[in-house]
Amino acid sequence: MNAPPATRSIKLAPSILAADFVCLGEQVREAEQAGADRIHIDVMDGHFVPNLSMGTPVVQSLRRATRLPLEVHLMIFNPDLFIDEFADAGADAFMVHWEGNTDLSRTVRHVKSRNKRVGAAINPATPALVLEEILPELDQVLVMTVNPGFGHQHFLHATLAKIARVRELIEQRRLTCHVEVDGGIDPATAPLAVRAGADVLVAGSAVFNETESVTVAMQRLRQAAQS
Ligand code: DX5
Ligand code: ZN
Repeated sequence: MNAPPATRSIKLAPSILAADFVCLGEQVREAEQAGADRIHIDVMDGHFVPNLSMGTPVVQSLRRATRLPLEVHLMIFNPDLFIDEFADAGADAFMVHWEGNTDLSRTVRHVKSRNKRVGAAINPATPALVLEEILPELDQVLVMTVNPGFGHQHFLHATLAKIARVRELIEQRRLTCHVEVDGGIDPATAPLAVRAGADVLVAGSAVFNETESVTVAMQRLRQAAQS
């Protein structure tokens, strides 16, 4: 049986995709002071997803701005080509997609050879079971709760059952793998994801927005996640 959510500590991973890049360092430092556990960096190549975002220079700059672990979410084809570059720039963890990767195991081993944490990401249309065999090698599973490529999208409630399924696979095997969710996470959806089994919450627009400070946004999100 799954461990009750209340016994799991919930980690918050603000996604800088929604941040104001004019003052990115300040925004990240504010998130750190407000209790962020890691910083989530979305890397898009315009092919794997229909959008472009950022690359290694941003990781290099952020490495000087915060002590928090930097988690790179690679929404790109051929992630193996860029792992060393991101690791050298200061990335601490890599989230790599199952989709479009003909040898996920090789990618996972590549990340581990650099002594970095590794997670496998699955899109909303991908079943949890594709990760069954590789689960023991992972530090984390990233369940996409929107289709990847853009911030500010609505949480897909159909993914809740999959979050629960991933948690179940982990508990059955007595693994310590984390379950991260990404997309549409806010104070309304965070408790649903946590109750389903998530213990790491990525949040972009719910943390970096124009209606409240990063500090207040983080407080609201943490309170909701633990409710
Ligand atoms: C979407 C990205 C997310 C994005 C989430 O493809 O992977 O990390 O920043 O943004 P929100 O929290 O606004 O849905
Ligand atoms: Zn992401």
